[in-house]
Amino acid sequence: MSTRKERREAERKTAYSDVFHYGKDIVETDIFKKALAQTHHKKTTVGDHSACVAVIALRMCRRLNRRVCHLDERRVVLAALTHDLGIVGRHEKYSTNIETYIRHPSDSAKIAMRLLPEMNKKFYRTISRHMFPLTILPPTSIEGIIISIADKMASVKDISAHAAA
Ligand SMILES: [Fe+2]
Ligand SMILES: [Fe+2]
Repeated sequence: MSTRKERREAERKTAYSDVFHYGKDIVETDIFKKALAQTHHKKTTVGDHSACVAVIALRMCRRLNRRVCHLDERRVVLAALTHDLGIVGRHEKYSTNIETYIRHPSDSAKIAMRLLPEMNKKFYRTISRHMFPLTILPPTSIEGIIISIADKMASVKDISAHAAA
């Protein structure tokens, strides 16, 4: 019989491969390839950070789906993979860090809608409000709350990995 730690590790590995299954069309885009080449939070890249957010968000989504929700796993993964694409090319687009924090969520949401035109306003808001409370308007859906929390968890992970290095 497997231990709790082994089960969690197996669950994490499954989520990781499912992220690339659901997100194949995003991961293969030019902008995501650029995201994989752009440094983010000192030691990671925008693309790797987004994949990390997607794994955390998918695992949260699965936990909720086992109990109370019927969330669409693919939509959650796609929102996570696209939530920071507005940051790509940040030095050419934004002049300060504050401007980056404020503007990249809605810029990311616009890029996501161009890549995934079948998505709706709810999906747009899941991305455009992921920086709450830094951006004043809060998420309006469970998916939005998941992405916002998963983003913060991944960011803490990124920054603490940098601090430990
Ligand atoms: Fe962000
Ligand atoms: Fe992020």
